Amino acid sequence: MYKIVAKRKLNDLVELMEIHAPYVARKCEPGQFIILRVDEEGERIPLTIADYDRKKETVTIIYQVVGYSTKKLSLKNEGDSVEDFVGPLGQEAPLHKVKRVLGIGGGVGIAPLYPQLKKMKELGVQVDTILGGRSDEFIILEDEMENISDNVYYATNDGSKGIKGFVTDKLNELIENGEKYDLVIAIGPLIMMKAVCEITKKHDIKTNVSLNPIMIDGTGMCGGCRVTVGGETKFACVDGPDFDGHQVDFDEAMRRQGMYKEEEKDHVCRLGLED
Ligand SMILES: Cc1cc2nc3c(=O)[nH]c(=O)nc-3n(C[C@H](O)[C@H](O)[C@H](O)COP(=O)(O)OP(=O)(O)OC[C@H]3O[C@@H](n4cnc5c(N)ncnc54)[C@H](O)[C@@H]3O)c2cc1C
Ligand code: FES
Repeated sequence: MYKIVAKRKLNDLVELMEIHAPYVARKCEPGQFIILRVDEEGERIPLTIADYDRKKETVTIIYQVVGYSTKKLSLKNEGDSVEDFVGPLGQEAPLHKVKRVLGIGGGVGIAPLYPQLKKMKELGVQVDTILGGRSDEFIILEDEMENISDNVYYATNDGSKGIKGFVTDKLNELIENGEKYDLVIAIGPLIMMKAVCEITKKHDIKTNVSLNPIMIDGTGMCGGCRVTVGGETKFACVDGPDFDGHQVDFDEAMRRQGMYKEEEKDHVCRLGLED
């Protein structure tokens, strides 16, 4: 059993939990994820490691309450435990010292972006960040991002924070203003990552993305998380989840992610899944 040492609501749909998980906390690196089961009858759900504290032996997860298991998880409180917390899974994100990096996070994708940018800052890299969401309340980890970034820009669909528009509008503006980046790390909905990659490819800026296809075993055995990268078949759970965004077949990834949409449509637990 893995004890929940802290729990915090980040907005109506998104919550943060710090979980005592000594083995994962000792070994994990930015980019990796865990698979948890809330209780012994629970299904296995993958969640990215949003932060970790090796001394306290804790791992932070940030999850959006979208369906059955995340709802069950959300009913747990500080002092309760979760049954399984397996990890660290996946590859460490390929982070190297460059001069300047631009992180782009959309919605709950801001959670996995945070540890990567934090590590870049520790490496001495200059960090700029664009955070986007439907509106102000969907932007999470603002204080944490401001602490590790030289500049933070915001973009919201309704203009309630930063520019009114998409993160890609801000990206275009920065490029047009002559800002130079050696690397972009974009994490958010597939459609956002695809749009970012289309722009950065034109400007020849290397771009890493983090994919979250449907995962089942998380060990490379079931094939559920198959993605095509550079014309080759990869399994996001063991080869990723971070990949060179210019090589990812996003159209296929989006088709595969929507594979169970029909079945999920009438499901009673379909909370917060509206497009
Ligand atoms: C590597 C990875 C990292 C992730 N990190 C985060 C994170 O940090 N925060 C976060 O909020 N979400 C994250 N997700 C998505 C998260 O796993 C799903 O939201 C969760 O499994 C939903 O479970 P549920 O029972 O509440 O919802 P369900 O009712 O089962 O489904 C809700 C939606 O979640 C998606 N989903 C369900 N099961 C899976 C699965 N096993 N793999 C992928 N998608 C699934 C489906 O597309 C579905 O539309 C990540 C997914 C992957 C693969
Ligand atoms: S989740 Fe089964 S191969 Fe990746």
